Amino acid sequence: MNARINPSILSADFANFQTEFESISNADLIHVDVMDNHFVPNLTFGLPMVLRMQQITPKPLDIHLMISNVDQWASGYAETGAYSVTFHAEASENPVALARKIRSIGARAGVAIKPGTPVDGFLDDLHEFDQLLVMTVEPGFGGQALIETTLDKVRAARRKIDAEKLDIWLQVDGGIDESNIERVAEHGADTFVAGSAVFKASDRQVQIDHLRALANQGLSHRH
Ligand code: DX5
Ligand code: ZN
Repeated sequence: MNARINPSILSADFANFQTEFESISNADLIHVDVMDNHFVPNLTFGLPMVLRMQQITPKPLDIHLMISNVDQWASGYAETGAYSVTFHAEASENPVALARKIRSIGARAGVAIKPGTPVDGFLDDLHEFDQLLVMTVEPGFGGQALIETTLDKVRAARRKIDAEKLDIWLQVDGGIDESNIERVAEHGADTFVAGSAVFKASDRQVQIDHLRALANQGLSHRH
């Protein structure tokens, strides 16, 4: 298992996406936080911006939809050609049906759960998804501290994924930095979103490689 580092452009300079994307070109994927000021109390960008990002990005886009009525909107994001589209279970009437729709369009389908949402209800359906995103902060803003109790859900999901040899990425998002990424990997996460930890670094590419090496160390301790 190899760790992936997906920098979140929520911490980027929104007026200079092209240079910001280039500054993280050794990332595995680029994490794009779509917020609607309804599902979360913050607003970022929508479909036209994501379409344009799709044209300039050096790496596949990992779209994280923090929007309401996602059953209606998610397919539009998949249709941009995005590599991966992750929606919040709390915002969908039928997460399995929505994942099938996203997959049928050709994108990887991810389901995200907020810190207060138990993981148990999703464990039997994991084969329906390509990614499970366990939020390690309340969605909405970068720069928050990781909520430790969410790591129990990462561990539970990893146990299930390994037991059933499922082909699914286990992503964490929020408060991930060089002080905790190795420990979070030891819980079984393999895909790491990092916003402030990457964008604040003096050399972002060095920081991405550093975070990936630490995460790989954590993954190797698991066996
Ligand atoms: C929060 C977003 C995150 C955010 C993470 O709602 O989903 O992707 O950018 O930022 P950091 O890494 O600074 O906690
Ligand atoms: Zn995110």
